[in-house]
Amino acid sequence: MSKSNILICISGSISAYKAASLASALKKKGFHVKTVATESSLKFIGTAALEGITGEPVLTDMFNPAYEIPHINLSEWADLIIVYPASATTIARLRMGLAEDLLSAIFLSNNFRKPYWISPAMNINMLAHPAVEENLKNLKKWGAKIIDPEEGILACGTVGKGRAPEPEKMAEMIEEAL
Ligand SMILES: Cc1cc2nc3c(=O)[nH]c(=O)nc-3n(C[C@H](O)[C@H](O)[C@H](O)COP(=O)(O)O)c2cc1C
Repeated sequence: MSKSNILICISGSISAYKAASLASALKKKGFHVKTVATESSLKFIGTAALEGITGEPVLTDMFNPAYEIPHINLSEWADLIIVYPASATTIARLRMGLAEDLLSAIFLSNNFRKPYWISPAMNINMLAHPAVEENLKNLKKWGAKIIDPEEGILACGTVGKGRAPEPEKMAEMIEEAL
């Protein structure tokens, strides 16, 4: 059984609930899992589910006195980081090199020697917007792996590209990669 460390970074998409299932699927495979969440993502998913599944606190605040320099420590701890789901805002933040929240500070402190994955999830028009396309292109150029969003019925009711792959599939991809 694998014992690698996986850091799931959750941002404010309606599919944030999938992060709990991904954490669960990875735990069942024997991975150590921790989660980092943006403020917005916690409007979509509660900390209790994530903490219950992972047995670890959900970290959001970079200035949490209980954790010394969390962005550096988590970056070093993780064997693979995945932003799942990745919102358009978080993608833009990463592309801009901002370090204003824990999720983006972890990105900056990561040097791509270990896998850094980004799984965009958003409305079809948002995904096709040149701003998002350009941001993703840049992140890929820098060394991030962009998980191609899947087609299907989106939360807004339209059918098209924009869904993050299902958690079980993502867990398989992670297991294969490691
Ligand atoms: C109901 C609802 C669903 C949303 N779903 C998405 C989404 O799937 N993808 C996305 O990029 N933004 C979505 N948003 C907008 C983000 O939550 C918003 O841009 C937020 O600022 C993201 O912040 P974060 O990246 O710091 O988590 C949604 C907003 C609402 C109110």
